[in-house]
Amino acid sequence: MQPVFNLRNMKILVTGGAGFIGSHTVVELQQAGYDVVAIDNFENSSPQVVDNIKKISGKPFDFIKVDIREKHALNDVFVTHPDIKAVIHFAAYKAVGESVEKPLAYYENNVGGTLNLVEAMQAHGVQNLVFSSSCTVYGDVKADALPITENSPIVKANSPYGNTKKIGEELLFDVAKSSTTKIVALRYFNPIGAHDSALIGELPNGVPNNLIPFVTQTAIGMREKLTIFGNDYPTRDGSCIRDYIHVVDLAKAHVKAIEFLNTHTDQYAVFNIGTGNGNTVLEVVAAFEKVSGKKLNYAFGPRREGDVVQIFASCDKAANILGWKAERTLDNALETAWKWELHLQALKGANQ
Ligand code: UD1
Repeated sequence: MQPVFNLRNMKILVTGGAGFIGSHTVVELQQAGYDVVAIDNFENSSPQVVDNIKKISGKPFDFIKVDIREKHALNDVFVTHPDIKAVIHFAAYKAVGESVEKPLAYYENNVGGTLNLVEAMQAHGVQNLVFSSSCTVYGDVKADALPITENSPIVKANSPYGNTKKIGEELLFDVAKSSTTKIVALRYFNPIGAHDSALIGELPNGVPNNLIPFVTQTAIGMREKLTIFGNDYPTRDGSCIRDYIHVVDLAKAHVKAIEFLNTHTDQYAVFNIGTGNGNTVLEVVAAFEKVSGKKLNYAFGPRREGDVVQIFASCDKAANILGWKAERTLDNALETAWKWELHLQALKGANQ
């Protein structure tokens, strides 16, 4: 059995540290007293995010522009920072539709990148890893299996994106079994919202695939209307049900996962990270209209291929073992997402 390290105040490497969940997690790690080094290739983020994280935390941290597909550059991060004790691995592509068009790019970045990272960690004796997984590994679940627990079976993925998360978990399970590397996989449900400061949030490239950025961009006038994908599902109002979790709550779960690695000897553990509540798309729209005071232009369209009818988490394991539980409401998440969209618009206005 390997020794349990005292990770607090030690250095944590965050891959994808300028991304949506990564940036919020760097803030929470810094606020919890950890020393952070972050990497990102800015393919789906920007250097401004790094400055804004520092504005929020009031603390410096090392940032290096690195693409996880580049083995040597990734290895150099560990050479430059020999005191890294744990890694939180966010860097990945995440658009379901795009993954169907470009499967190789997804396998190369999400699976190949994870492989490169684990190799570099092992070469430098870094033995603690938190991996970004997804509830997508559960596939389409029956209503009587909800809320879904970590013991539910992992099914065949319905997109290359989903498959990269499934393979990622399997790969890391094998690594944990065969080495002294300890791994926590966090299965995220639907992360939404933004930091209260409105300095960091979700920055979708082009037309958003995900619901909330599409809602806020419609409300601000960038999109004509939201299409709700399907109103004939067997749910309370005919639209799909998801477990929407505030990104700040989700970020805090990573701090708890690091503490878990610090205090437990488990080689491999998985946790659902959601709220435990499911909301329909129509309920999200109604909540958004309430908190923003804006009427949202929307219409019903056909079902989106690959969508599951409903999924929401049982978060008992995270509560009992990590001591973590979502604290924020859907209203608060939507309020912060709206504040973030207003901030982005103000920036655009200032740059014109
Ligand atoms: C999916 C995955 C999630 C993954 C995420 C990455 C599942 C259950 N979830 O989330 O694990 O991390 O992709 O992007 O596989 N919707 C509309 N109109 C829109 C956009 C979305 O009605 O314009 C609806 C969808 O049909 C869905 C809900 O809003 O019911 C949420 O969609 P989205 O934000 O895209 O996330 P998921 O597809 O649930």
